[in-house]
Amino acid sequence: MIDKYKRNINYLRISLTDRCNLRCRYCMPEEGVVPKLNHEDILRFEQILKIIKASSLIGINKIRYTGGEPLIMNGIDNLIYETSSIEGIEDISITTNGILLCDAAGDLKKAGLNRVNISLDTLNEKKFNSITRGGDLNKVIQAIEKCISLGYSPVKINVVLLKGINDDEIQDFINLTLDMPIHVRFIELMPMGTAVDLYKDENIKCDEIIKNFTVLEHITNEKSSTAELYKLPDAKGLVGFIRPISCKFCSSCNRIRLTSTGTIKPCLHSKQEYDIKPYIENEENLILLLKKIILSKPVEHHLEAGISSSEKMMYEIGG
Ligand code: 5AD
Ligand code: SF4
Repeated sequence: MIDKYKRNINYLRISLTDRCNLRCRYCMPEEGVVPKLNHEDILRFEQILKIIKASSLIGINKIRYTGGEPLIMNGIDNLIYETSSIEGIEDISITTNGILLCDAAGDLKKAGLNRVNISLDTLNEKKFNSITRGGDLNKVIQAIEKCISLGYSPVKINVVLLKGINDDEIQDFINLTLDMPIHVRFIELMPMGTAVDLYKDENIKCDEIIKNFTVLEHITNEKSSTAELYKLPDAKGLVGFIRPISCKFCSSCNRIRLTSTGTIKPCLHSKQEYDIKPYIENEENLILLLKKIILSKPVEHHLEAGISSSEKMMYEIGG
């Protein structure tokens, strides 16, 4: 469906849970999320499928499952299978921290998963353990290799840029693309939740990297893509830069977001949020509400003011 600013909204991102098996220091408090949501406050898979069905009738054709960590949800392969059976849904992806992915990747592919984005901020085992407060880097590396061998394409790696923490590894990450058919995407830290306190000292602008790595060749890419794409000569993979602050992509934004509690956020960084739970059982009313929400999508965010206006945290929205 086309919104007020002539953007084609065809992409629904769905956060399945606010829980995660890691505690990345820019995302979650050390003790995890408190208070914990009750089971009955979280959408059931059958409710999610009804929302996708209604969304597909107004032009949504791309679905991404996120979290928290989506792979901690039991039965996600069946959810993906059911999603792929909905007419009009052409592309299903997940954003995951990769910890549980190696074992699950084969079944997920059979179920209909098309693409994976894996979060990975360092290639150093100790640093990984410290950034994620306990994660095992080897599991993520194994998952990346498994996904490539299974033919997921492209496998995208999300690297959040953190000054003094992983800026010494930028070259190493870029070099991974020489031999691996992956997209390494550097993401500017966004000042939300736990990251607000780190932001002043740790944010790095992608411009600084693009300026320093002159060997990277710019590539034209899809209009709705959030990443600007570059390539090393003769590399198998690509390098992307996601700069929500220094280079807004709001004018080509094609997405809305469903949280695990059944609200829709038409913009990641706005306060605006609509509770659609009471409408799920009535497709006609649900469609009317979805249309209203899409028409209310703001023209742009105001992150440049220094803080996100979102009342939800990143682990509740899933990026
Ligand atoms: N700024 C930028 N990226 C973030 N992510 C989580 N919190 C932030 C933040 N404050 C990333 C995760 C994951 C994706 C969903 O968003 O690392 O790759
Ligand atoms: Fe979990 Fe992703 Fe947040 Fe890390 S960034 S704690 S992996 S939700």
